[in-house]
Amino acid sequence: MRMRLLGLASCLMLAATARADVSNDCLVCHSNERLAERDADGKVRSLYVDAQHFFATAHAKKGCLGCHGDLGLGPHDLALGRQPAVKPAFAPYVAKLPKARAVAVANCMGCHEKEFASYQQSVHGEATRAGKRGVPLCDDCHGNHAISMTDDIESPVNPAQQLHTCAKCHADGQVMAQYNVSTNVVKTFEHHFHGRKRLIGDARVAVCTSCHAPAASVHEIRGPKDPKSTVNPANHTEGCGREGCHPGTSEAFAKGFGHEVPSLAVRPLVFLISKIHILMMTLVLGTMFLHILLDIIRRKINASRAAAQSGGKA
Ligand code: HEC
Ligand code: HEC
Ligand code: HEC
Ligand code: HEC
Ligand code: HEC
Ligand code: HEC
Repeated sequence: MRMRLLGLASCLMLAATARADVSNDCLVCHSNERLAERDADGKVRSLYVDAQHFFATAHAKKGCLGCHGDLGLGPHDLALGRQPAVKPAFAPYVAKLPKARAVAVANCMGCHEKEFASYQQSVHGEATRAGKRGVPLCDDCHGNHAISMTDDIESPVNPAQQLHTCAKCHADGQVMAQYNVSTNVVKTFEHHFHGRKRLIGDARVAVCTSCHAPAASVHEIRGPKDPKSTVNPANHTEGCGREGCHPGTSEAFAKGFGHEVPSLAVRPLVFLISKIHILMMTLVLGTMFLHILLDIIRRKINASRAAAQSGGKA
């Protein structure tokens, strides 16, 4: 309680200070690694913010209040239960979130209008608006206090990392079971041509959003059955044919670049060759080991015969 009052008093005093300076004042408390709070359900939640990481981001200039203020009162007022004023346009997207997160995410949307507009058109945006659970908001994909520029290879949405960010949910059976969406998409991507090329370091090949969203509107990820989706069969030639990928692509070429697992019915040649590959590997390695084993046994037999012979002589 004492800490809470102290925090509140500091915030009030800070109201008139310049934003970047405010960050330092907030960090007097929040850079303490042991600062934590107990949730309503008894779980301990860390309130620590890594100052070094934060000041390295583009958001440092806006200060802590860039995300935690503006739409209403200071964060500690929120904790005390006063309702922040979230603009009606953002309200359906953040309605179910705890207050501090609701204000912060609404602020992402307010500053990044273009990205918000494209997110609104997406399957994720629609689901959030409908109040569904387990759907990503801005901070689920981008993080909060260490958001790097997207061209930074460390950014969780950069093509180099994106796979893991989508996998957090799309490889999670519990989340996907509710929506009847396959959890196989990440594994199949890794096994397909694009995933394998990426694994060996080719940065030009497609990642998840290259196929699933229009180049100019990366948040506009739609379900494959949506007629506007870039992966809907009606749009394959356009989707695969974007600049830098496969311009002039044919419908026949575009087929079979989803997540299906090769079988006798789907891409039979790939299926058969991979089976032949496994068979040959087993034969080659198997006969090699058998050869070594027989060789060792032969040597042992010869050695013991030689020992027996020389023993008989002595
Ligand atoms: C004197 C120490 C202190 C200062 C200064 C301080 N805080 Fe806090 N902060 C706390 C404590 C203690 C809590 C947990 C209790 C609470 O929510 O009031 C907290 C909680 C929070 C929360 C989580 C609220 C929630 O409900 O999840 C946010 C966000 C936050 N602070 C941001 C800030 C920002 C931004 C500043 C600067 C404007 C700041 N704090 C300044 C001590 C402080
Ligand atoms: C780019 C937007 C952004 C900025 C700038 C920002 N925060 Fe946050 N902060 C968030 C988001 C989003 C959350 C909600 C995370 C959650 O609940 O999952 C959050 C949560 C918090 C929490 C609650 C604990 C937690 O990590 O969930 C504290 C404390 C906090 N912020 C303090 C600060 C302080 C102090 C600063 C300035 C040094 C700051 N924040 C700057 C976006 C931001
Ligand atoms: C499903 C994951 C996901 C969600 C949710 C998401 N983003 Fe993104 N965001 C991305 C990806 C992927 C990129 C592009 C990375 C790249 O450069 O290849 C991106 C890029 C950005 C960029 C850089 C400019 C651009 O368009 O390339 C901004 C700014 C941004 N997002 C803000 C937001 C905001 C604000 C929200 C919430 C309304 C949000 N994002 C929600 C994945 C996401
Ligand atoms: C007060 C306005 C403001 C708020 C709030 C804000 N941002 Fe930003 N954000 C910016 C600015 C300004 C930049 C730097 C843009 C640049 O230099 O191109 C930026 C940069 C970014 C980038 C990198 C863009 C790129 O081109 O690579 C991402 C991603 C991003 N913000 C996501 C978020 C997310 C997610 C939130 C909420 C947790 C958020 N922002 C909240 C103003 C804001
Ligand atoms: C080469 C283009 C391409 C890439 C790269 C790609 N996808 Fe797909 N994706 C498709 C196509 C085409 C479909 C529709 C047909 C299908 O399901 O095989 C699809 C379907 C999906 C579906 C819907 C599955 C369902 O059960 O309804 C999800 C989810 C998905 N992809 C996520 C991802 C994720 C996550 C990644 C990155 C790991 C990714 N995709 C990479 C082309 C691609
Ligand atoms: C926080 C969890 C989460 C993250 C992160 C996430 N998604 Fe999703 N995604 C979902 C959920 C939940 C749905 C189902 C929504 C619905 O059907 O209403 C979904 C739906 C989809 C669909 C449509 C599936 C269909 O058959 O309709 C595609 C495609 C998709 N996501 C791609 C991606 C890509 C690509 C990424 C990474 C850039 C990503 N998602 C990140 C949770 C997530």
